[in-house]
Amino acid sequence: MNKALVLHGPNLNLLGTRQPEIYGHETLEDINNALFEQAALGGWEVRCRQSNHEGELIDLIQAARLDGTAAIIINPAAYTHTSVAILDALNAFEGRVIEVHLSNVHRRESFRHHSYVSLRADGVIAGLGSQGYRAALEAVMAGGR
Ligand code: DQA
Repeated sequence: MNKALVLHGPNLNLLGTRQPEIYGHETLEDINNALFEQAALGGWEVRCRQSNHEGELIDLIQAARLDGTAAIIINPAAYTHTSVAILDALNAFEGRVIEVHLSNVHRRESFRHHSYVSLRADGVIAGLGSQGYRAALEAVMAGGR
């Protein structure tokens, strides 16, 4: 079965209560459950992981290189703007990479305008809220670059 990995970076465990005016009222569990359903309908297996730790996210990306994961959908959260190490890990992954942000980072503070991960991402979705994850999964399941 085709496999996708969804990675959520730091503080995304707080979704639903964290600045809902920016990030919405849905919890991470709500978002993940919708992805599980969508994947099942498309005949894909999706795994969702959240970590507040850069090294753990890197370990998960490295593991995905070896277990046949076809695509990584990643919201690196604040690490988007700081982490060369996550970029390097993604550069070593051969499948598709879609970067997702709930908020439109380009309408926010200038430090959020730069993304290391975008240097590797095949696609970037920002500002669509939780719908962005579902759009990313749809693109992954449809195949192509
Ligand atoms: C975010 C945007 C980042 O700038 C921020 O640090 C986050 C969430 C988003 O989903 O909009 O934690 O990635």
